[in-house]
Amino acid sequence: MTITDLATNVQIAVPAAPTHPVAKPQLIAPDTYLIPNLVPAEPGTYVFVSSLVILAEEPIVVDTGAPLHREQWLRNVSSVVDLDDVRWVFLSHDDGDHLGNMTPLLEQAPKAKVIANFFANERAFLEPDRALPLDRQVWLEAGTSFDAGDRRLHLFRPPIFDGPTTRGLYDEKTGVMWAVDSFAALTTGAVYEAPDLPPDLYDETFTLFNSMISPWHQWLAPDVYGRHVDSVEAMRPTTVANAHGPVLRGSFIGGAFDRVRALAGKPVVPSPGQETLDALLAAAKVQPPAMA
Ligand SMILES: [Fe+2]
Ligand SMILES: [Fe+2]
Repeated sequence: MTITDLATNVQIAVPAAPTHPVAKPQLIAPDTYLIPNLVPAEPGTYVFVSSLVILAEEPIVVDTGAPLHREQWLRNVSSVVDLDDVRWVFLSHDDGDHLGNMTPLLEQAPKAKVIANFFANERAFLEPDRALPLDRQVWLEAGTSFDAGDRRLHLFRPPIFDGPTTRGLYDEKTGVMWAVDSFAALTTGAVYEAPDLPPDLYDETFTLFNSMISPWHQWLAPDVYGRHVDSVEAMRPTTVANAHGPVLRGSFIGGAFDRVRALAGKPVVPSPGQETLDALLAAAKVQPPAMA
Protein backbone atom coordinates (compact mmCIF):
# COMPACT_ATOMS: atom_id res chain seq x y z
CA MET A 1 0.00 0.00 0.00
CA THR A 2 1.20 3.56 -0.66
CA ILE A 3 0.23 6.98 0.65
CA THR A 4 0.93 10.39 -0.90
CA ASP A 5 2.97 12.99 0.96
CA LEU A 6 0.81 16.08 0.40
CA ALA A 7 3.76 18.48 0.74
CA THR A 8 5.96 16.83 -1.89
CA ASN A 9 3.40 14.78 -3.79
CA VAL A 10 5.75 11.80 -3.38
CA GLN A 11 4.31 8.29 -3.08
CA ILE A 12 5.51 6.57 0.11
CA ALA A 13 5.33 2.83 0.51
CA VAL A 14 3.73 1.74 3.78
CA PRO A 15 4.37 -1.82 4.87
CA ALA A 16 1.17 -3.74 5.38
CA ALA A 17 0.25 -4.23 9.03
CA PRO A 18 0.91 -7.81 10.09
CA THR A 19 -2.28 -9.74 9.68
CA HIS A 20 -3.12 -12.14 12.46
CA PRO A 21 -5.73 -14.75 11.72
CA VAL A 22 -8.95 -14.19 13.61
CA ALA A 23 -9.41 -16.98 16.12
CA LYS A 24 -13.09 -17.70 16.75
CA PRO A 25 -14.64 -20.25 19.12
CA GLN A 26 -14.87 -23.68 17.51
CA LEU A 27 -17.52 -26.29 18.31
CA ILE A 28 -15.32 -29.38 18.52
CA ALA A 29 -17.77 -31.84 20.12
CA PRO A 30 -21.31 -31.70 21.53
CA ASP A 31 -21.54 -28.93 24.15
CA THR A 32 -17.80 -28.24 23.77
CA TYR A 33 -16.18 -25.11 22.36
CA LEU A 34 -12.47 -24.56 21.84
CA ILE A 35 -11.56 -20.93 22.62
CA PRO A 36 -8.40 -20.42 20.55
CA ASN A 37 -5.92 -17.59 20.36
CA LEU A 38 -2.92 -17.45 18.04
CA VAL A 39 0.54 -16.01 18.73
CA PRO A 40 2.87 -15.47 15.73
CA ALA A 41 5.90 -17.78 15.69
CA GLU A 42 8.17 -18.50 12.70
CA PRO A 43 6.93 -16.77 9.54
CA GLY A 44 3.61 -18.29 8.54
CA THR A 45 3.18 -20.22 11.77
CA TYR A 46 1.44 -19.62 15.07
CA VAL A 47 1.39 -20.99 18.60
CA PHE A 48 -2.03 -21.91 19.89
CA VAL A 49 -3.03 -20.53 23.27
CA SER A 50 -6.39 -22.21 23.72
CA SER A 51 -8.90 -22.94 26.42
CA LEU A 52 -12.28 -24.68 26.46
CA VAL A 53 -15.90 -24.11 27.42
CA ILE A 54 -18.08 -27.10 28.25
CA LEU A 55 -21.81 -26.35 28.19
CA ALA A 56 -22.66 -28.88 30.87
CA GLU A 57 -25.82 -28.44 32.92
CA GLU A 58 -23.43 -26.55 35.19
CA PRO A 59 -21.23 -24.78 32.59
CA ILE A 60 -17.46 -25.11 32.91
CA VAL A 61 -14.67 -22.83 31.64
CA VAL A 62 -11.50 -24.89 31.25
CA ASP A 63 -8.41 -22.69 31.75
CA THR A 64 -8.51 -18.94 31.20
CA GLY A 65 -5.91 -18.13 28.52
CA ALA A 66 -3.23 -15.44 28.62
CA PRO A 67 -3.48 -11.76 29.63
CA LEU A 68 -2.21 -10.86 26.14
CA HIS A 69 -5.60 -11.88 24.71
CA ARG A 70 -7.75 -10.70 27.61
CA GLU A 71 -10.43 -8.69 25.78
CA GLN A 72 -10.79 -11.12 22.92
CA TRP A 73 -10.78 -14.10 25.27
CA LEU A 74 -13.53 -12.67 27.48
CA ARG A 75 -15.55 -11.70 24.39
CA ASN A 76 -15.18 -15.16 22.86
CA VAL A 77 -16.07 -17.01 26.06
CA SER A 78 -19.06 -14.70 26.56
CA SER A 79 -20.22 -15.47 23.03
CA VAL A 80 -20.74 -19.16 23.87
CA VAL A 81 -21.85 -19.00 27.52
CA ASP A 82 -23.52 -16.38 29.68
CA LEU A 83 -20.84 -15.67 32.30
CA ASP A 84 -23.57 -15.37 34.89
CA ASP A 85 -24.34 -19.08 34.32
CA VAL A 86 -20.75 -20.35 34.69
CA ARG A 87 -20.53 -22.65 37.72
CA TRP A 88 -17.00 -24.04 37.40
CA VAL A 89 -13.63 -22.78 36.23
CA PHE A 90 -11.23 -25.67 35.88
CA LEU A 91 -7.66 -24.40 36.42
CA SER A 92 -5.30 -27.02 35.02
CA HIS A 93 -2.26 -25.32 36.57
CA ASP A 94 -1.02 -21.88 37.55
CA ASP A 95 1.04 -20.96 34.47
CA GLY A 96 0.27 -17.50 33.09
CA ASP A 97 -1.22 -18.81 29.84
CA HIS A 98 -3.80 -20.83 31.82
CA LEU A 99 -4.45 -18.59 34.82
CA GLY A 100 -4.09 -15.33 32.84
CA ASN A 101 -7.69 -14.13 32.78
CA MET A 102 -8.95 -15.73 36.00
CA THR A 103 -9.41 -12.48 37.96
CA PRO A 104 -11.61 -10.68 35.39
CA LEU A 105 -13.51 -13.91 34.74
CA LEU A 106 -14.33 -14.40 38.43
CA GLU A 107 -15.47 -10.76 38.61
CA GLN A 108 -17.88 -11.36 35.75
CA ALA A 109 -18.93 -14.90 36.72
CA PRO A 110 -20.14 -14.50 40.31
CA LYS A 111 -21.49 -18.07 40.68
CA ALA A 112 -18.29 -19.77 39.50
CA LYS A 113 -16.01 -21.84 41.74
CA VAL A 114 -12.42 -22.52 40.70
CA ILE A 115 -11.25 -26.12 40.66
CA ALA A 116 -7.67 -25.59 41.81
CA ASN A 117 -5.37 -27.39 44.24
CA PHE A 118 -3.19 -26.54 47.25
CA PHE A 119 -0.01 -25.86 45.34
CA ALA A 120 -1.64 -23.83 42.54
CA ASN A 121 -3.18 -21.62 45.22
CA GLU A 122 0.19 -21.20 46.96
CA ARG A 123 1.99 -20.32 43.74
CA ALA A 124 -0.68 -17.87 42.54
CA PHE A 125 -0.74 -16.19 45.97
CA LEU A 126 2.82 -14.90 45.45
CA GLU A 127 1.56 -12.48 42.80
CA PRO A 128 -1.35 -10.47 44.23
CA ASP A 129 -2.97 -9.73 40.88
CA ARG A 130 -3.09 -13.48 40.17
CA ALA A 131 -4.11 -14.67 43.63
CA LEU A 132 -7.15 -16.94 43.84
CA PRO A 133 -9.82 -16.03 46.43
CA LEU A 134 -9.91 -18.87 48.97
CA ASP A 135 -13.69 -18.83 49.26
CA ARG A 136 -14.10 -19.34 45.50
CA GLN A 137 -11.96 -22.50 45.33
CA VAL A 138 -12.43 -26.27 45.43
CA TRP A 139 -9.21 -28.30 45.61
CA LEU A 140 -9.08 -31.46 43.51
CA GLU A 141 -6.13 -33.60 42.50
CA ALA A 142 -5.50 -36.11 39.70
CA GLY A 143 -7.49 -39.29 40.24
CA THR A 144 -10.60 -37.49 41.51
CA SER A 145 -13.69 -36.24 39.68
CA PHE A 146 -16.51 -33.75 40.04
CA ASP A 147 -20.15 -33.54 38.97
CA ALA A 148 -21.41 -30.80 36.66
CA GLY A 149 -25.08 -31.79 36.79
CA ASP A 150 -25.40 -33.90 33.65
CA ARG A 151 -21.90 -35.44 33.60
CA ARG A 152 -18.81 -36.31 35.63
CA LEU A 153 -15.44 -34.81 34.82
CA HIS A 154 -12.32 -36.80 35.71
CA LEU A 155 -8.94 -35.29 36.59
CA PHE A 156 -5.72 -37.00 35.55
CA ARG A 157 -1.98 -36.27 35.23
CA PRO A 158 -1.28 -35.56 31.53
CA PRO A 159 1.68 -37.33 29.91
CA ILE A 160 3.55 -34.05 29.22
CA PHE A 161 3.41 -31.10 31.63
CA ASP A 162 5.51 -28.10 32.66
CA GLY A 163 4.05 -27.29 36.05
CA PRO A 164 3.76 -29.49 39.16
CA THR A 165 0.13 -28.52 39.76
CA THR A 166 -1.07 -29.81 36.39
CA ARG A 167 -4.18 -31.95 36.03
CA GLY A 168 -6.00 -32.71 32.77
CA LEU A 169 -9.75 -33.17 32.43
CA TYR A 170 -11.84 -35.92 30.81
CA ASP A 171 -15.55 -35.45 30.10
CA GLU A 172 -17.15 -38.88 30.28
CA LYS A 173 -20.33 -37.69 28.51
CA THR A 174 -18.66 -36.50 25.30
CA GLY A 175 -15.32 -38.32 25.42
CA VAL A 176 -13.49 -35.00 25.17
CA MET A 177 -10.10 -34.87 26.90
CA TRP A 178 -8.32 -31.62 27.85
CA ALA A 179 -4.63 -32.57 27.71
CA VAL A 180 -3.36 -29.13 28.89
CA ASP A 181 0.26 -28.66 27.70
CA SER A 182 0.54 -32.16 26.15
CA PHE A 183 0.52 -32.61 22.36
CA ALA A 184 1.59 -29.04 21.43
CA ALA A 185 2.44 -28.25 17.80
CA LEU A 186 2.48 -25.12 15.63
CA THR A 187 -0.36 -24.23 13.30
CA THR A 188 -0.46 -22.28 10.03
CA GLY A 189 -3.26 -19.96 11.15
CA ALA A 190 -6.92 -20.47 11.96
CA VAL A 191 -6.45 -24.20 11.36
CA TYR A 192 -7.58 -26.28 14.32
CA GLU A 193 -7.68 -29.93 13.24
CA ALA A 194 -4.47 -31.97 13.07
CA PRO A 195 -5.14 -33.53 9.61
CA ASP A 196 -5.44 -30.04 8.13
CA LEU A 197 -1.86 -29.11 9.07
CA PRO A 198 1.18 -29.81 6.85
CA PRO A 199 2.49 -33.20 8.06
CA ASP A 200 6.10 -32.00 8.20
CA LEU A 201 5.18 -29.00 10.36
CA TYR A 202 3.17 -31.22 12.71
CA ASP A 203 5.92 -33.87 12.95
CA GLU A 204 8.76 -31.43 13.62
CA THR A 205 7.01 -29.04 15.97
CA PHE A 206 5.19 -31.75 17.94
CA THR A 207 8.53 -33.34 18.85
CA LEU A 208 10.22 -29.99 19.56
CA PHE A 209 7.42 -28.56 21.71
CA ASN A 210 6.73 -31.69 23.74
CA SER A 211 10.45 -32.03 24.43
CA MET A 212 10.78 -28.34 25.40
CA ILE A 213 7.76 -28.54 27.72
CA SER A 214 8.95 -31.67 29.52
CA PRO A 215 12.75 -31.93 29.11
CA TRP A 216 12.77 -34.50 31.92
CA HIS A 217 11.68 -37.07 29.32
CA GLN A 218 15.41 -37.78 28.80
CA TRP A 219 15.64 -39.47 32.22
CA LEU A 220 12.48 -41.57 31.94
CA ALA A 221 12.50 -45.37 31.89
CA PRO A 222 10.37 -46.18 28.83
CA ASP A 223 8.51 -49.04 30.54
CA VAL A 224 7.63 -46.99 33.64
CA TYR A 225 6.61 -43.90 31.67
CA GLY A 226 4.82 -46.07 29.12
CA ARG A 227 2.54 -47.43 31.85
CA HIS A 228 1.55 -43.88 32.80
CA VAL A 229 0.85 -42.92 29.18
CA ASP A 230 -1.14 -46.17 28.78
CA SER A 231 -3.29 -45.25 31.79
CA VAL A 232 -4.24 -41.90 30.23
CA GLU A 233 -4.89 -43.37 26.79
CA ALA A 234 -7.05 -46.06 28.46
CA MET A 235 -9.69 -43.41 29.10
CA ARG A 236 -10.28 -43.80 25.36
CA PRO A 237 -10.97 -40.16 24.49
CA THR A 238 -12.78 -39.52 21.21
CA THR A 239 -11.58 -35.91 20.92
CA VAL A 240 -8.38 -34.55 22.45
CA ALA A 241 -8.04 -30.77 22.81
CA ASN A 242 -5.11 -29.01 24.39
CA ALA A 243 -3.77 -25.51 24.98
CA HIS A 244 -0.99 -25.40 22.40
CA GLY A 245 -1.76 -27.89 19.65
CA PRO A 246 -4.46 -28.88 17.18
CA VAL A 247 -7.55 -30.92 17.99
CA LEU A 248 -6.87 -34.64 17.69
CA ARG A 249 -9.32 -37.33 16.62
CA GLY A 250 -9.16 -40.88 15.25
CA SER A 251 -5.68 -42.14 14.48
CA PHE A 252 -4.12 -38.82 15.52
CA ILE A 253 -5.00 -39.61 19.14
CA GLY A 254 -3.11 -42.91 19.23
CA GLY A 255 -0.34 -41.29 17.22
CA ALA A 256 0.08 -38.50 19.77
CA PHE A 257 0.26 -40.94 22.69
CA ASP A 258 2.82 -43.00 20.74
CA ARG A 259 4.92 -39.89 20.03
CA VAL A 260 5.17 -38.90 23.68
CA ARG A 261 5.83 -42.53 24.72
CA ALA A 262 8.74 -42.52 22.28
CA LEU A 263 10.33 -39.50 24.00
CA ALA A 264 11.15 -41.54 27.12
CA GLY A 265 14.91 -41.90 27.52
CA LYS A 266 15.65 -39.87 24.37
CA PRO A 267 17.86 -36.73 24.36
CA VAL A 268 16.09 -33.41 24.47
CA VAL A 269 15.42 -31.77 21.11
CA PRO A 270 17.60 -28.63 20.82
CA SER A 271 15.51 -25.49 21.07
CA PRO A 272 16.20 -22.18 19.27
CA GLY A 273 19.34 -20.49 20.64
CA GLN A 274 21.26 -17.20 20.45
CA GLU A 275 21.20 -17.17 16.65
CA THR A 276 17.42 -17.01 16.79
CA LEU A 277 17.54 -14.07 19.22
CA ASP A 278 20.05 -12.35 16.93
CA ALA A 279 17.70 -12.82 13.97
CA LEU A 280 14.76 -11.46 15.96
CA LEU A 281 16.78 -8.42 17.02
CA ALA A 282 17.96 -7.84 13.46
CA ALA A 283 14.38 -8.07 12.20
CA ALA A 284 13.35 -5.52 14.79
CA LYS A 285 16.37 -3.38 13.89
CA VAL A 286 17.52 -3.40 17.50
CA GLN A 287 21.25 -3.82 18.05
CA PRO A 288 22.26 -6.25 20.79
CA PRO A 289 24.49 -4.72 23.49
CA ALA A 290 28.23 -5.02 22.77
CA MET A 291 29.93 -7.79 24.73
CA ALA A 292 32.45 -6.53 27.28
FE1 LIG B 1 2.18 -24.85 31.44
FE1 LIG C 1 0.52 -23.77 28.55
